[in-house]
Amino acid sequence: MKNDWVREKFSIFEQKTYINSCSYGALSTEVKQAFNDYLLDRDQDGALWPRWCELLEDLRSEVAGLLNASPDEIAITGSASNGVNSVASALDFTGSRNKIVTTDFEFPSVAQIWHAQEMQGATIHSVAARGGTIPRINFEQALDEQTQLVSLSQVCYRNGAAIDVNMIRDMARDRGAMVMLDSFQMIGTQSVDVKALDVDFLVGGFLKYLLGTAGVAFLYVKKDLLPGLNPTATGWFAQKDIHAMDIRANKPSDTARKFETGTPPVVNIYAALAANEALLR
Ligand SMILES: Cc1ncc(COP(=O)(O)O)c(C=O)c1O
Repeated sequence: MKNDWVREKFSIFEQKTYINSCSYGALSTEVKQAFNDYLLDRDQDGALWPRWCELLEDLRSEVAGLLNASPDEIAITGSASNGVNSVASALDFTGSRNKIVTTDFEFPSVAQIWHAQEMQGATIHSVAARGGTIPRINFEQALDEQTQLVSLSQVCYRNGAAIDVNMIRDMARDRGAMVMLDSFQMIGTQSVDVKALDVDFLVGGFLKYLLGTAGVAFLYVKKDLLPGLNPTATGWFAQKDIHAMDIRANKPSDTARKFETGTPPVVNIYAALAANEALLR
């Protein structure tokens, strides 16, 4: 068979028909090797911080390539939830624009993070589904001048429904609202182009169709928004100079790195880089 060379990379295919990538993609020989490479590096050199910082930047560039973004617009995180939380921590819900619109098709974590913002003054409206779809009229009724952000899954984790991003983004823009897209169930199956989608934020991760591992994910933040957003969720890897070790002040990066927090997920970055290389091949 012409695809044998691909199938041979996934040992599990010898035993099983694998239809669970929506939860966790199959493990390839490349990713196994990457975990081994990490262990070898640890044995040989101990703590390789300069190399690990380079790998973090390599992954940032790879993710930027996947999304048609600039590396300065990408934060590498431990989970999609980390990215959403960091964005939430930078929003102000004390004024009249305190409404977040989300949908019945969201992954629980994302909806839970928005509900947690009720403690900061946010009001959350979940646009109701009817069966396997969400009628356009329900978005029209939900979106108003109080809406600060619309948070949507590009593809629903439960039923595979794909949302009409362009239509909802245009509606959001008309009301002056920002758009956050959760592309976790799309990325790796079809191209995800932030320029074409023209959204403000996008999250995804490496454990599903990108065939990497749990514990490494990403957040895209549109460049124009960066100067105005100051996450209160932060840490030393979010600083302009990660080597500053300043305990007297928080001096965040000007780039989307300001949405990162502490030590990056080093082991998982090895795996994500190997997975991406294999996937692109
Ligand atoms: C659409 C969607 N968003 C988010 C997640 C999970 O995100 P996290 O990386 O925060 O666990 C999943 C995982 O199943 C998902 O399907």
